[in-house]
Amino acid sequence: MIALSDQSPEAFGARRAVYRHPLKPDRLIKVVKPSARPAWRVRFSSRFGSYKSHGIELTEYLVLRSRMSNDPPIVAPFHGLVETDLGVGVEVERMVDREGRLAPTLHALVERGGPAPHLWPQVEAMIGLLIRHHVVVSDLKPLNLVLARWGGADRLVLIDGLGEKNLLSLRPFSRIANRLSLAKAGRRLRAWLQEGR
Ligand SMILES: Nc1ncnc2c1ncn2[C@@H]1O[C@H](COP(=O)(O)OP(=O)(O)O)[C@@H](O)[C@H]1O
Ligand SMILES: [Mg+2]
Repeated sequence: MIALSDQSPEAFGARRAVYRHPLKPDRLIKVVKPSARPAWRVRFSSRFGSYKSHGIELTEYLVLRSRMSNDPPIVAPFHGLVETDLGVGVEVERMVDREGRLAPTLHALVERGGPAPHLWPQVEAMIGLLIRHHVVVSDLKPLNLVLARWGGADRLVLIDGLGEKNLLSLRPFSRIANRLSLAKAGRRLRAWLQEGR
């Protein structure tokens, strides 16, 4: 079992805490924050319980990897599940900037530097691939996209949000529903990149 509780997280999301892997410095381990574990009343909503997001993400990662083989990579590589002293974690590649620091999210970039319309073509290309291969992303938002130095280039990378969280959604079954939903997320991102808020 990997001990994480003796170090501070490198980043936080709404649901998960993100730790540097203690044995592999180029990897991160994401664990579910205690505050994000569902109360007993809502546990029936998924048999995965606290690990609902891990389960959804893992499944959609397999969908993505089975469909996208010759395309440029758009998602941080996933290295599986690991047992930690903070519960089951997911091990992923740590996306970095040119200086080797954690890659900034689009949210952080725009907050710091204002509007960034020059990033739209990369967002558009990513959305095009997701539509073409019918990959579902529930949360295509600035906090889940980072600008990383990867394979010798500055790339837009999706680090969270893969998979369908809503049981009643049509997106996993319908290419059209998925396309409409991604196009809508794209319009929102485009406006946000242009206006910087
Ligand atoms: N693979 C990664 N590489 C670099 N930074 C990451 C990576 N995964 C997550 N992060 C950072 O950690 C934050 C929270 O991670 P995230 O997976 O979005 O958690 P949550 O599921 O709670 O939203 C992100 O906004 C990002 O800053
Ligand atoms: Mg997130």
